[in-house]
Amino acid sequence: MSASTNSEFNFQKIIAWGLIIALGSIAFVLLAISIARMAQGNKPLDPEAVNMRIAPVAAVKLAAPAAAAGAARSGEQIYNASCAACHNTGVANAPKLGDNAAWAPRIALGLDGLLKSAIAGKNAMPPKGGSDASDTELASTIVYLANKSGASFKEPAAK
Ligand code: HEC
Repeated sequence: MSASTNSEFNFQKIIAWGLIIALGSIAFVLLAISIARMAQGNKPLDPEAVNMRIAPVAAVKLAAPAAAAGAARSGEQIYNASCAACHNTGVANAPKLGDNAAWAPRIALGLDGLLKSAIAGKNAMPPKGGSDASDTELASTIVYLANKSGASFKEPAAK
């Protein structure tokens, strides 16, 4: 008899421990979740975190405010938008950005000479590189491009 009482006692003990472990795990998971929430809450305006939380609904774009209408765009902006397609790749024999050897004889024409041929277009190069840049913007763009390719032109004064 004592053996059976003993094993019954052990069985109850096992169930009791099982319950303790199960409840303990649930409590632990809940604690971990709330700690994770608190950690996220510490940086509520981090756009990455915001995007992760609202990803299926919308993406928050903290874009730089658009340039005021009429404000001159930088040479780099125009270059990336309108010139990089040809002058990064060298397509149709376009002198590549950073190819000092290809640029040296062109740089010798001076900024005014380059501006003239860029405005008019030259062989496969469309007038103004196909951009809607003003002459001053186009000059800044040429300064950006040429100065990355061995020139040391001065940024043109805004007109
Ligand atoms: C469709 C391709 C294409 C695009 C877009 C383009 N270019 Fe060019 N570019 C060329 C080619 C090709 C040449 C070489 C022309 C030649 O000498 O035969 C060239 C030459 C030039 C030259 C040298 C001109 C000279 O007198 O030697 C300058 C400066 C220039 N590009 C500036 C620009 C700027 C600035 C932009 C953007 C606003 C631009 N290009 C966009 C193809 C392009």
